[in-house]
This record gives sequence, C-alpha cells and structure tokens, in this order.
Amino acid sequence: MLLLPLLSLVAVATAISPIETKGNAFFVKDSNQRFYIRGVDYQPGGSSKLIDPLANTKTCKRDIEKFKDLGINTIRVYSVDNTADHDECMKELADAGIYVILDVNIPNASISRSDAKCSYNTMYLEEVFATVSAMAKYDNTLGFFAGNEVINDETTTSAATYVKAVVRDMKHYIKNKKLRSIPVGYSAADVEENRLETAHFFNCGDDEMARSDMFGFNDYSWCGKSSFTTSGYDQKVEAYSNYSIPLFLSEYGCNKITPRPFTEVESIYSTKMSSVFSGGLVYEYSEEANKYGLVKINGDSVTTNSDYDNLKAEFKKTPNPTGDGAYQSSLDFSECPPQTDKWNATSTLPDTPKGALKYLTGDSTPKGNGFDASTQWACIAKGNDDPSGSDGDLPGSSGSGSSGSSSSSSSSSSGSDSSSTSTSKKSGSYALQPASLGIFGSLAMSVVVSGLCII
Ligand SMILES: *[C@@H]1O[C@H](CO)[C@@H](O)[C@H](O)[C@H]1NC(C)=O
Ligand SMILES: *[C@@H]1O[C@H](CO)[C@@H](O)[C@H](O)[C@H]1NC(C)=O
Ligand SMILES: *[C@@H]1O[C@H](CO)[C@@H](O)[C@H](O)[C@H]1NC(C)=O
Repeated sequence: MLLLPLLSLVAVATAISPIETKGNAFFVKDSNQRFYIRGVDYQPGGSSKLIDPLANTKTCKRDIEKFKDLGINTIRVYSVDNTADHDECMKELADAGIYVILDVNIPNASISRSDAKCSYNTMYLEEVFATVSAMAKYDNTLGFFAGNEVINDETTTSAATYVKAVVRDMKHYIKNKKLRSIPVGYSAADVEENRLETAHFFNCGDDEMARSDMFGFNDYSWCGKSSFTTSGYDQKVEAYSNYSIPLFLSEYGCNKITPRPFTEVESIYSTKMSSVFSGGLVYEYSEEANKYGLVKINGDSVTTNSDYDNLKAEFKKTPNPTGDGAYQSSLDFSECPPQTDKWNATSTLPDTPKGALKYLTGDSTPKGNGFDASTQWACIAKGNDDPSGSDGDLPGSSGSGSSGSSSSSSSSSSGSDSSSTSTSKKSGSYALQPASLGIFGSLAMSVVVSGLCII
C-alpha cells in the first residue's frame, strides 16, 4: 500500500519534458523553447564487443557524472538489449537532463546492405518493435534511428528502400500502440556521393507515415582548427536549406589532427547553422580501436583526455542561439531523387511482411531476443514468413537443422549496423535458410567509409 504514493513521488522527481519536432527543428514539448542536440555518441565496447550501456546502473551512473561535467544534453546509443531493464539508467539520465537517441538495431538483427530484401523480415521487425516498446516509455527517449550507415557507397543505395520500409513500420507501430510520437529517422554515413539523395529520399513521397521525422548524418569534414568555409559546413547549410525536418550531425569529430580542438562547436551552435541544423553528437565517448574517445575506460576507472577538456571548454563558451534560431516551419517535404547509376533506391516500398502485421494490429506482442537475436537469414522469399501457429510446414521451408553459412563480415561502420548472416537460435520455429552472400555483398561490406570511422 505504501508503494503507490512512493512510486508517484519518484515519477514527479524525474520529470523531464519530451522533445517534439516542429518544422525543421526540435522543441521542448508544449513550449517555445527550441532544443539543440548537444551530445556524445555512447557505446563503450563498440559494435564488436556488444554491451548494453543503459542496462548497467553502476557504469551508466559513473558516466553520467562525466556527461554532466561535459555539459551535454543527449547521448546516442547504437544498440541496447531489448530484454534488459533500462529503468534505472534512464531515470538517472533524466535526472541529469539527458535525452537518448537510440538505434534500434544490433549487428545480427538489422537491414543487411548486401541482401536488404532478405533481411527485411518478420523476425527482424519483431526485434525492432520489441526495442521500441522497451524504450518508448521513457520521456527522455528523444528519437529512434531505424538504421545507421546501411548505405555506405554507390553500390548499396538500393538498401535504402528497405530501411525506409522499417521507418514506416516503426511509425505505424508507435501510432497503433498509442505510444508517445517519438521521432523516427535514419543516420547516414559520411559519403559525399549520395548524402543529399539519402536525406531527400527519407523525407520524400506522399505517404507521411513513410517519411522520416528527423535525419542525421555523420560528418568528419571539420579537422583541427578548420573553419565554417574550409570544412565545407557552409555548403551543407546551403545544400540543405530547404530540408523540412530536423537535421543534425549524428557523428562528428575528425581525428586526423589531435588532440581535437572541437572548434566546430562554435559554428554548429551559431546562427550560421541554426536555421538548418539542430546540433550534433560527438563521436565518441569511450576510446575504442579506432581512436575517437574522449575518455579511456579501464575496469571501473574512467580517465579523460585533452579532447575531453577541449570539448568541455567549447561547450562552455558556446551558448545556443537565442530565440528560435530562425528555424523554418513551413517547408515542403522533399522530392524523391530519381534513379540514376548512382542512386538506385525506389520510392515504392515493399509491403510489411505479413507475419509482422499481427504486431501492428496489436494481436500479438513482440518479444525480443536481446543480443541473441539473429534475423538476417530469415528471408521471406524463402518461406520464412510467419510460421507461428503452423508446425514447420511452411512453403519452401527445408532442411531444418542444416547449418547456415556465417559470413565473417567486418562492419565498416562506426556504429552497429552490419551485414553478416547467420543461423538462428530459433531453429525450432523457423526454417533455417541462410541468406547467401554474394561476392558483391562481401565487397560492399569491406568498403571503408571515407577512411575514417572504422572499427
Ligand atoms: C530552396 O528554395 C528556394 C525557394 O523555393 C529556392 O530558390 C532555392 O533554390 C532552394 N534551395 C535549394 C538548395 O534547393
Ligand atoms: C538496382 O536495384 C534493383 C532492384 O531494385 C536491382 O535489381 C539492380 O541490380 C540494382 N542495380 C544496381 C546497379 O545496383
Ligand atoms: C552474429 O552471429 C554470428 C553467427 O551466429 C556470431 O558468430 C557473432 O558473434 C554474432 N555477432 C554479434 C555481434 O553478436
């Protein structure tokens, strides 16, 4: 009986206002206060050593002290375990005034750039929806990324069609389940050739539910003490000047010149950019093999470096623009980029796999498998749609128990998308149908993004 009043007290103490989108900007809900992302990417261990950073109260509390000291208001997390309990860390973050942008994928449950069609399947969507359900309940969940750097060169653009289908499905899920309308978007790789097409593609078409609510791109163009013009930031402001949804840098922090001075902070939070951009996230909190860390984590101890000090000083001396930063509220959504030899995504999206419709209708509750999830092999075309209720007598199912090929893909991404195939742990309920990885897929996966963010 004591429990109820206590709980409501806790709820009051942790109140943080959700963030909403309006025009091409973020706002604190029910206010005229514009919100700029002042953030850091946070995935200690990286994608090779997957750890849920929001499931361990001790480590998240430890790091929140650093976040407060840095003066940030947002972290981006690339993967969480959708079976874990995140209440405590999310509450601690909320108490510190920190929001979370979450990628809903894990490396083995994501859209594969080499076989996007197969990887877009019922099992995959069940994981995504389970993640959305697990994280949508927190007021400080700022947004979801449906994908990260899936398109990483000119040969992988057709995968965008499937990622956009995931955006659509997530938005339908959120709406049908009457969850808070948390923005859904995509985080693009730092690929000069098709960054703009990608941005427009995710914000085009008549189906509002298929258009992204926000867009991030990873950008490593400002190295050392560069400038607004030398870095090319000025051209990006111009190129995206009519982009109608909130836009931000989902990763920044070139490490070609170290220690990193982070002088770009002064441009990012200035009126030179605020009519088009809404801040960004520094890549990244912890030092990993690719050497972008602000801190070194060793067991329980965290040591900050001069990048950390520089970033802290830059944040401290750089306030947000006053007022609404001249955001734009009445821009039109984008034209879909035409298919060319450099852009091969079609605007006609695939239907939601029929096995996943039961989650959208609410007839079934998605159950995640956490970091054990492995879905890329479960190709619908090969008969792997909705086996529930049937007894392995799926059309096209064959050879249950046969072992699948597991590719040794190396993700060229800084985040947690990847394109490996594997067999499922759910062999009892799904036919084992390893997706075949062609040579082109393997090649595409080892392409290095701008020679920069490689793990
Ligand atoms: C933005 O829209 C204005 C007005 O329609 C147009 O003049 C301008 O060329 C557009 N800019 C870009 C980069 O598309
Ligand atoms: C373009 O996409 C279509 C499927 O939409 C595919 O059949 C074709 O191979 C792709 N072309 C290139 C050059 O990737
Ligand atoms: C992905 O699946 C493969 C094959 O089951 C496994 O070896 C690998 O460890 C998994 N990767 C991650 C990051 O869990």
